[in-house]
Amino acid sequence: MSEPFLIMAPMRGITTMHYRKAFVRHFQGLDAEMAPFVATVAAERINPKLLKDVLPENSSGLPIIPQLIGNNAADFVNMARALHDLGYNEVNWNLGCPHKPIRNKQRGSGLIPRPERVDKLLTEICAGSPCKISVKVRLGVSDKSEVMRLIPVLNRHPLSEVIVHPRTAEQMYDGTVDLAAFAEASRLIEHPICYNGDINDLSFFQALEPYCIGTHRFMLGRGLLANPFLCEVIKSGNPKTENAIKRLRGFHDEVFENYRSVIDGDLPMLGKMKEFWAYPSQNLSNGRTFFKKVKKCHRLATYQEIVSEFLADAEWAA
Ligand SMILES: Cc1cc2nc3c(=O)[nH]c(=O)nc-3n(C[C@H](O)[C@H](O)[C@H](O)COP(=O)(O)O)c2cc1C
Repeated sequence: MSEPFLIMAPMRGITTMHYRKAFVRHFQGLDAEMAPFVATVAAERINPKLLKDVLPENSSGLPIIPQLIGNNAADFVNMARALHDLGYNEVNWNLGCPHKPIRNKQRGSGLIPRPERVDKLLTEICAGSPCKISVKVRLGVSDKSEVMRLIPVLNRHPLSEVIVHPRTAEQMYDGTVDLAAFAEASRLIEHPICYNGDINDLSFFQALEPYCIGTHRFMLGRGLLANPFLCEVIKSGNPKTENAIKRLRGFHDEVFENYRSVIDGDLPMLGKMKEFWAYPSQNLSNGRTFFKKVKKCHRLATYQEIVSEFLADAEWAA
Protein backbone atom coordinates (compact mmCIF):
# COMPACT_ATOMS: atom_id res chain seq x y z
CA MET A 1 0.00 0.00 0.00
CA SER A 2 1.34 3.48 -0.78
CA GLU A 3 1.70 5.94 2.12
CA PRO A 4 -1.85 6.24 3.50
CA PHE A 5 -3.54 9.62 3.91
CA LEU A 6 -5.21 9.60 7.33
CA ILE A 7 -8.18 11.78 8.21
CA MET A 8 -9.76 12.28 11.65
CA ALA A 9 -13.46 11.38 11.42
CA PRO A 10 -16.01 13.96 12.49
CA MET A 11 -17.44 13.02 15.89
CA ARG A 12 -20.01 15.57 17.00
CA GLY A 13 -19.47 16.89 20.53
CA ILE A 14 -16.06 15.21 20.80
CA THR A 15 -13.69 16.20 17.97
CA THR A 16 -14.36 19.89 18.54
CA MET A 17 -11.79 22.57 17.72
CA HIS A 18 -10.67 22.35 21.37
CA TYR A 19 -9.96 18.64 20.99
CA ARG A 20 -8.45 18.89 17.50
CA LYS A 21 -6.09 21.74 18.45
CA ALA A 22 -4.64 19.73 21.34
CA PHE A 23 -4.53 16.50 19.31
CA VAL A 24 -2.17 17.78 16.61
CA ARG A 25 0.19 19.24 19.19
CA HIS A 26 0.66 15.85 20.87
CA PHE A 27 0.39 13.24 18.11
CA GLN A 28 1.85 12.77 14.64
CA GLY A 29 0.70 10.95 11.53
CA LEU A 30 -2.66 12.60 10.99
CA ASP A 31 -2.99 14.35 7.60
CA ALA A 32 -6.35 16.12 7.79
CA GLU A 33 -9.48 16.50 9.88
CA MET A 34 -13.15 16.56 9.03
CA ALA A 35 -15.14 18.80 11.36
CA PRO A 36 -18.41 17.52 12.87
CA PHE A 37 -21.54 18.44 10.93
CA VAL A 38 -23.25 21.79 10.98
CA ALA A 39 -26.92 21.76 9.95
CA THR A 40 -27.70 23.94 6.94
CA VAL A 41 -29.85 27.01 7.68
CA ALA A 42 -31.31 29.83 5.60
CA ALA A 43 -28.85 32.55 4.55
CA GLU A 44 -30.09 35.12 7.11
CA ARG A 45 -29.41 32.69 9.96
CA ILE A 46 -25.75 32.03 9.08
CA ASN A 47 -23.69 33.75 11.75
CA PRO A 48 -20.10 33.42 12.96
CA LYS A 49 -21.27 31.47 16.05
CA LEU A 50 -22.68 28.73 13.83
CA LEU A 51 -19.34 28.28 12.05
CA LYS A 52 -17.17 28.91 15.11
CA ASP A 53 -15.75 25.38 15.11
CA VAL A 54 -14.22 25.94 11.67
CA LEU A 55 -13.20 29.60 11.91
CA PRO A 56 -9.60 29.82 10.61
CA GLU A 57 -8.40 31.37 13.89
CA ASN A 58 -9.55 28.22 15.71
CA SER A 59 -7.70 25.86 13.37
CA SER A 60 -5.33 23.17 14.61
CA GLY A 61 -3.02 23.88 11.67
CA LEU A 62 -3.95 20.72 9.73
CA PRO A 63 -6.13 20.87 6.61
CA ILE A 64 -9.77 20.74 7.67
CA ILE A 65 -12.86 19.82 5.72
CA PRO A 66 -16.10 21.29 7.07
CA GLN A 67 -19.21 19.13 6.91
CA LEU A 68 -22.83 20.13 6.35
CA ILE A 69 -26.01 18.14 6.89
CA GLY A 70 -29.30 19.09 5.27
CA ASN A 71 -31.59 18.63 2.30
CA ASN A 72 -32.16 22.16 1.05
CA ALA A 73 -29.91 23.04 -1.88
CA ALA A 74 -30.24 26.84 -1.55
CA ASP A 75 -29.31 26.72 2.15
CA PHE A 76 -26.42 24.36 1.39
CA VAL A 77 -25.07 26.64 -1.34
CA ASN A 78 -25.29 29.71 0.89
CA MET A 79 -23.43 27.93 3.66
CA ALA A 80 -20.83 26.67 1.20
CA ARG A 81 -20.37 30.30 0.12
CA ALA A 82 -19.89 31.38 3.74
CA LEU A 83 -17.30 28.61 4.17
CA HIS A 84 -15.59 29.63 0.94
CA ASP A 85 -15.37 33.20 2.29
CA LEU A 86 -13.56 31.72 5.31
CA GLY A 87 -11.01 30.18 2.94
CA TYR A 88 -12.40 26.65 2.43
CA ASN A 89 -12.26 24.97 -0.99
CA GLU A 90 -14.09 21.78 -0.09
CA VAL A 91 -17.25 20.97 1.84
CA ASN A 92 -18.49 17.52 2.76
CA TRP A 93 -22.16 16.58 2.60
CA ASN A 94 -23.24 14.18 5.34
CA LEU A 95 -25.28 11.35 3.81
CA GLY A 96 -24.46 8.94 6.59
CA CYS A 97 -25.87 10.12 9.92
CA PRO A 98 -27.86 7.09 11.15
CA HIS A 99 -29.98 8.69 13.90
CA LYS A 100 -33.69 8.11 13.37
CA PRO A 101 -34.93 11.67 13.95
CA ILE A 102 -32.44 12.86 11.32
CA ARG A 103 -33.06 10.15 8.77
CA ASN A 104 -36.85 10.45 9.20
CA LYS A 105 -36.46 14.06 8.05
CA GLN A 106 -34.67 12.80 4.92
CA ARG A 107 -31.31 14.07 6.06
CA GLY A 108 -28.06 12.16 6.54
CA SER A 109 -28.53 8.46 5.74
CA GLY A 110 -32.26 9.12 5.20
CA LEU A 111 -31.36 10.39 1.72
CA ILE A 112 -29.51 7.23 0.61
CA PRO A 113 -32.70 5.37 -0.46
CA ARG A 114 -33.82 8.46 -2.43
CA PRO A 115 -31.45 8.68 -5.41
CA GLU A 116 -33.76 10.98 -7.44
CA ARG A 117 -33.82 13.53 -4.62
CA VAL A 118 -30.02 13.30 -4.17
CA ASP A 119 -29.59 13.76 -7.94
CA LYS A 120 -31.67 16.95 -7.92
CA LEU A 121 -29.93 18.29 -4.82
CA LEU A 122 -26.46 17.55 -6.18
CA THR A 123 -27.32 19.23 -9.49
CA GLU A 124 -28.17 22.45 -7.66
CA ILE A 125 -25.43 22.16 -5.04
CA CYS A 126 -22.63 21.45 -7.53
CA ALA A 127 -23.82 24.24 -9.84
CA GLY A 128 -24.03 26.84 -7.04
CA SER A 129 -21.26 25.94 -4.61
CA PRO A 130 -17.92 27.71 -4.93
CA CYS A 131 -16.40 24.82 -2.95
CA LYS A 132 -15.72 21.30 -4.20
CA ILE A 133 -18.26 18.81 -2.83
CA SER A 134 -17.45 15.45 -1.26
CA VAL A 135 -19.97 13.09 0.33
CA LYS A 136 -19.85 10.68 3.29
CA VAL A 137 -22.19 7.72 2.94
CA ARG A 138 -23.18 4.43 4.56
CA LEU A 139 -24.36 1.33 2.73
CA GLY A 140 -27.98 2.38 3.14
CA VAL A 141 -30.64 2.56 5.80
CA SER A 142 -31.26 -1.17 5.90
CA ASP A 143 -29.50 -2.74 2.92
CA LYS A 144 -26.40 -2.29 0.76
CA SER A 145 -28.54 -2.33 -2.40
CA GLU A 146 -29.50 1.25 -1.47
CA VAL A 147 -25.97 2.61 -1.91
CA MET A 148 -25.51 0.55 -5.06
CA ARG A 149 -28.55 2.35 -6.56
CA LEU A 150 -27.15 5.70 -5.41
CA ILE A 151 -23.71 5.22 -6.98
CA PRO A 152 -24.74 5.98 -10.61
CA VAL A 153 -26.16 9.29 -9.30
CA LEU A 154 -22.96 10.10 -7.41
CA ASN A 155 -20.99 9.29 -10.59
CA ARG A 156 -22.99 11.86 -12.58
CA HIS A 157 -21.74 14.77 -10.44
CA PRO A 158 -18.24 16.25 -10.11
CA LEU A 159 -17.56 15.09 -6.55
CA SER A 160 -14.07 15.42 -5.11
CA GLU A 161 -14.38 12.31 -2.92
CA VAL A 162 -16.79 9.68 -1.63
CA ILE A 163 -16.18 8.44 1.92
CA VAL A 164 -17.81 5.08 2.53
CA HIS A 165 -18.57 3.69 5.99
CA PRO A 166 -19.69 0.14 5.14
CA ARG A 167 -22.45 -0.25 7.72
CA THR A 168 -26.17 0.35 7.33
CA ALA A 169 -27.89 3.07 9.35
CA GLU A 170 -29.90 0.42 11.17
CA GLN A 171 -26.63 -1.02 12.46
CA MET A 172 -25.79 2.38 13.95
CA TYR A 173 -22.23 1.75 15.20
CA ASP A 174 -22.72 -1.93 16.07
CA GLY A 175 -22.06 -5.22 14.32
CA THR A 176 -19.30 -5.56 11.76
CA VAL A 177 -18.36 -3.51 8.73
CA ASP A 178 -19.11 -5.18 5.38
CA LEU A 179 -15.72 -5.08 3.67
CA ALA A 180 -16.89 -6.99 0.58
CA ALA A 181 -19.64 -4.38 0.10
CA PHE A 182 -17.01 -1.62 0.44
CA ALA A 183 -14.87 -3.29 -2.24
CA GLU A 184 -17.92 -3.71 -4.50
CA ALA A 185 -18.97 -0.05 -4.03
CA SER A 186 -15.46 1.23 -4.61
CA ARG A 187 -15.21 -0.64 -7.93
CA LEU A 188 -18.35 1.18 -9.09
CA ILE A 189 -17.62 4.66 -7.73
CA GLU A 190 -15.79 6.80 -10.29
CA HIS A 191 -14.52 9.38 -7.76
CA PRO A 192 -11.61 9.20 -5.32
CA ILE A 193 -12.65 6.98 -2.40
CA CYS A 194 -11.95 7.05 1.30
CA TYR A 195 -12.53 4.07 3.60
CA ASN A 196 -14.04 4.60 7.07
CA GLY A 197 -15.00 2.14 9.79
CA ASP A 198 -13.51 0.17 12.69
CA ILE A 199 -9.84 1.04 12.09
CA ASN A 200 -8.99 0.32 15.70
CA ASP A 201 -5.51 -1.16 15.39
CA LEU A 202 -2.64 -1.87 13.02
CA SER A 203 -3.71 -5.42 12.23
CA PHE A 204 -7.23 -4.36 11.15
CA PHE A 205 -5.69 -1.61 9.03
CA GLN A 206 -3.32 -4.09 7.36
CA ALA A 207 -6.16 -6.56 6.78
CA LEU A 208 -8.02 -3.88 4.79
CA GLU A 209 -5.50 -4.04 1.95
CA PRO A 210 -7.30 -6.55 -0.34
CA TYR A 211 -10.56 -4.60 0.02
CA CYS A 212 -9.00 -1.19 -0.53
CA ILE A 213 -7.17 -1.63 -3.83
CA GLY A 214 -6.80 1.84 -5.31
CA THR A 215 -7.79 3.52 -2.03
CA HIS A 216 -5.14 5.29 -0.04
CA ARG A 217 -7.37 7.60 2.03
CA PHE A 218 -8.64 6.36 5.36
CA MET A 219 -10.82 8.04 7.98
CA LEU A 220 -10.38 7.07 11.62
CA GLY A 221 -12.98 7.73 14.32
CA ARG A 222 -13.47 5.82 17.55
CA GLY A 223 -10.26 3.83 17.11
CA LEU A 224 -8.20 7.03 16.93
CA LEU A 225 -9.92 8.53 19.95
CA ALA A 226 -9.28 5.31 21.89
CA ASN A 227 -5.67 5.15 20.70
CA PRO A 228 -4.47 8.63 19.69
CA PHE A 229 -1.10 7.10 18.70
CA LEU A 230 -2.82 5.07 15.97
CA CYS A 231 -1.77 7.26 13.02
CA GLU A 232 1.86 7.04 14.17
CA VAL A 233 1.50 3.28 14.57
CA ILE A 234 -0.03 2.87 11.09
CA LYS A 235 2.60 5.02 9.40
CA SER A 236 5.55 3.46 11.21
CA GLY A 237 4.21 -0.10 11.13
CA ASN A 238 5.30 -0.40 14.78
CA PRO A 239 2.46 -1.14 17.22
CA LYS A 240 4.54 -0.20 20.31
CA THR A 241 4.33 3.32 21.74
CA GLU A 242 6.97 4.78 24.05
CA ASN A 243 5.97 7.09 26.92
CA ALA A 244 2.29 6.54 26.12
CA ILE A 245 0.94 7.54 29.54
CA LYS A 246 3.06 10.68 29.76
CA ARG A 247 1.96 11.76 26.30
CA LEU A 248 -1.68 10.92 26.96
CA ARG A 249 -1.50 12.96 30.17
CA GLY A 250 -0.09 15.97 28.26
CA PHE A 251 -2.88 15.68 25.70
CA HIS A 252 -5.56 15.31 28.36
CA ASP A 253 -4.29 18.34 30.27
CA GLU A 254 -4.37 20.48 27.17
CA VAL A 255 -7.89 19.39 26.17
CA PHE A 256 -8.94 20.08 29.77
CA GLU A 257 -7.44 23.59 29.70
CA ASN A 258 -8.92 24.34 26.28
CA TYR A 259 -12.39 23.50 27.57
CA ARG A 260 -11.86 25.24 30.88
CA SER A 261 -11.15 28.48 29.06
CA VAL A 262 -14.63 28.42 27.50
CA ILE A 263 -16.86 26.32 29.81
CA ASP A 264 -18.17 27.55 33.15
CA GLY A 265 -19.25 25.19 35.90
CA ASP A 266 -18.12 21.79 37.09
CA LEU A 267 -20.92 19.73 35.56
CA PRO A 268 -20.59 20.89 31.93
CA MET A 269 -16.80 20.46 32.22
CA LEU A 270 -17.24 16.98 33.64
CA GLY A 271 -19.61 16.15 30.78
CA LYS A 272 -16.86 16.96 28.28
CA MET A 273 -14.16 15.06 30.16
CA LYS A 274 -16.39 11.98 30.52
CA GLU A 275 -16.80 11.94 26.73
CA PHE A 276 -13.03 12.28 26.42
CA TRP A 277 -12.29 9.24 28.64
CA ALA A 278 -14.98 7.01 27.12
CA TYR A 279 -12.48 6.10 24.37
CA PRO A 280 -8.88 5.95 25.74
CA SER A 281 -10.07 4.22 28.92
CA GLN A 282 -10.61 1.15 26.68
CA ASN A 283 -6.85 0.93 26.14
CA LEU A 284 -5.73 1.41 29.73
CA SER A 285 -5.20 -1.40 32.23
CA ASN A 286 -8.02 -1.07 34.77
CA GLY A 287 -9.50 1.58 32.49
CA ARG A 288 -13.06 0.36 33.04
CA THR A 289 -12.88 0.88 36.79
CA PHE A 290 -11.22 4.24 36.27
CA PHE A 291 -13.91 5.33 33.78
CA LYS A 292 -16.68 4.25 36.18
CA LYS A 293 -15.13 6.51 38.84
CA VAL A 294 -14.87 9.40 36.38
CA LYS A 295 -18.54 8.95 35.44
CA LYS A 296 -19.58 9.20 39.09
CA CYS A 297 -17.72 12.50 39.69
CA HIS A 298 -19.73 15.60 40.51
CA ARG A 299 -16.88 17.95 41.33
CA LEU A 300 -14.04 18.98 39.06
CA ALA A 301 -11.51 18.92 41.93
CA THR A 302 -12.39 15.27 42.65
CA TYR A 303 -12.10 14.49 38.95
CA GLN A 304 -8.61 15.97 38.80
CA GLU A 305 -7.53 13.93 41.82
CA ILE A 306 -8.90 10.71 40.30
CA VAL A 307 -7.13 11.34 37.00
CA SER A 308 -3.79 12.21 38.62
CA GLU A 309 -3.93 9.21 40.93
CA PHE A 310 -4.86 6.81 38.15
CA LEU A 311 -2.31 8.06 35.61
CA ALA A 312 0.51 8.03 38.17
CA ASP A 313 0.87 4.28 37.68
CA ALA A 314 -1.37 3.48 34.70
CA GLU A 315 -0.33 1.15 31.90
CA TRP A 316 -1.07 1.62 28.21
CA ALA A 317 -2.50 -1.60 26.87
CA ALA A 318 -3.11 -0.93 23.15
C1 LIG B 1 -20.37 10.29 18.97
C2 LIG B 1 -20.26 10.24 17.46
C3 LIG B 1 -20.44 11.41 16.73
C4 LIG B 1 -20.35 11.38 15.32
N1 LIG B 1 -20.52 12.55 14.61
C5 LIG B 1 -20.44 12.52 13.24
C6 LIG B 1 -20.57 13.72 12.46
O1 LIG B 1 -20.73 14.84 12.96
N2 LIG B 1 -20.49 13.58 11.10
C7 LIG B 1 -20.28 12.37 10.49
O2 LIG B 1 -20.20 12.30 9.27
N3 LIG B 1 -20.12 11.25 11.21
C8 LIG B 1 -20.19 11.30 12.56
N4 LIG B 1 -19.98 10.15 13.27
C9 LIG B 1 -19.57 8.92 12.55
C10 LIG B 1 -18.03 8.85 12.47
O3 LIG B 1 -17.50 9.93 11.77
C11 LIG B 1 -17.59 7.55 11.76
O4 LIG B 1 -18.14 7.53 10.47
C12 LIG B 1 -18.04 6.30 12.50
O5 LIG B 1 -17.77 6.40 13.89
C13 LIG B 1 -17.36 5.05 11.93
O6 LIG B 1 -15.95 5.17 11.99
P1 LIG B 1 -15.08 4.50 13.20
O7 LIG B 1 -15.46 3.03 13.23
O8 LIG B 1 -13.66 4.75 12.80
O9 LIG B 1 -15.50 5.19 14.45
C14 LIG B 1 -20.09 10.16 14.66
C15 LIG B 1 -19.90 8.98 15.41
C16 LIG B 1 -19.99 9.01 16.79
C17 LIG B 1 -19.80 7.73 17.56
